[in-house]
Amino acid sequence: MDTSKEYAEKQYRYMRNGASVEDYMVKFHMNSNELYGLLELCRIYGKNVEIINKDGVLVFDKPLVRNLDPKKPSLDPKDLIHTEICVVSDTHFGNIHQQLHLLNKVYREAYNRGIKTVLHVGDVVDGNYLNRPEQPRQQFLHGFDEQVGYVVDMYPRVRGITTKYILGSHDETHYKNGQATVNSWVSRCRRDMEFLGQDYASLDINGVKIFMDHPGGGSAQSLSYKPQKRIEILESQYKPKILLIGHYHKSYYFVYRNVHGVLVPSFCDKTQFQQKQGLLNVVGAYFLDIYSNSKGNIEYFCPEEIVFKPSEMWDEAGKDKSKVKRLVIR
Ligand SMILES: [Fe+2]
Ligand SMILES: [Fe+2]
Repeated sequence: MDTSKEYAEKQYRYMRNGASVEDYMVKFHMNSNELYGLLELCRIYGKNVEIINKDGVLVFDKPLVRNLDPKKPSLDPKDLIHTEICVVSDTHFGNIHQQLHLLNKVYREAYNRGIKTVLHVGDVVDGNYLNRPEQPRQQFLHGFDEQVGYVVDMYPRVRGITTKYILGSHDETHYKNGQATVNSWVSRCRRDMEFLGQDYASLDINGVKIFMDHPGGGSAQSLSYKPQKRIEILESQYKPKILLIGHYHKSYYFVYRNVHGVLVPSFCDKTQFQQKQGLLNVVGAYFLDIYSNSKGNIEYFCPEEIVFKPSEMWDEAGKDKSKVKRLVIR
């Protein structure tokens, strides 16, 4: 058995609080000796997980080890609502630098963690800019039909997971070119993908207000400047507890005016445009672990950043097209 810290931590995440031990053992083809060895290994690495009998079923029991707000010592995690979501953005399907195999990896991880909602913050497809004559050379899928067909066929389809998405600047080019809307076809063909809006959407998950934002325009030198400006211009009815920002292809977490802000990275490696402009590009995703109270206020927030290394990326989608199997978990 793998005894590395990475393996123990990964398996610890899969042992969800309250989840059936038997289901876990079946899923990972593990016998009881291997499981007890793994629990010991987790303890050695400081991750404590117990097995308890709950209504006649053996389930995992994980103490809440992360620090809740120290100013609220009376806080009892049992009184709080626990929400785990995954956030992705800027998949740019059709661009030769797209990283579908990494998106699949994140969805598989979300499935293993028992996550039900993945939020996509826009630029689902690469679009078609008529004022960028160099763009077709950067694409292996051209035009609306090819790009949207690819989303319908290839976007990860995972049992129990709903992808809630907004559309961004690249998606909108199809509308500008001929009033074709990506969402109408995706929603018609994919019941697991729910469209929330063009450029932005406000939603509520377990009472926690979330705002998804796909701005336009270029990047700023400071990672925090533009996101802070976005919070300042939000009207009070939209003021969320969590602000998720796509479009910049960067990774950054901050708290500003009581809002947890996340710049969500992309699933597209650096493009020719970004290279020329000297723009940083990050490929990755976020898993958000949230504890909120009955009023929808956040008592504990842990943004887990996933960033992929250049060695994990594929440099051209020609390979991608032939090698990536679509991820379907039924
Ligand atoms: Fe983008
Ligand atoms: Fe964009």
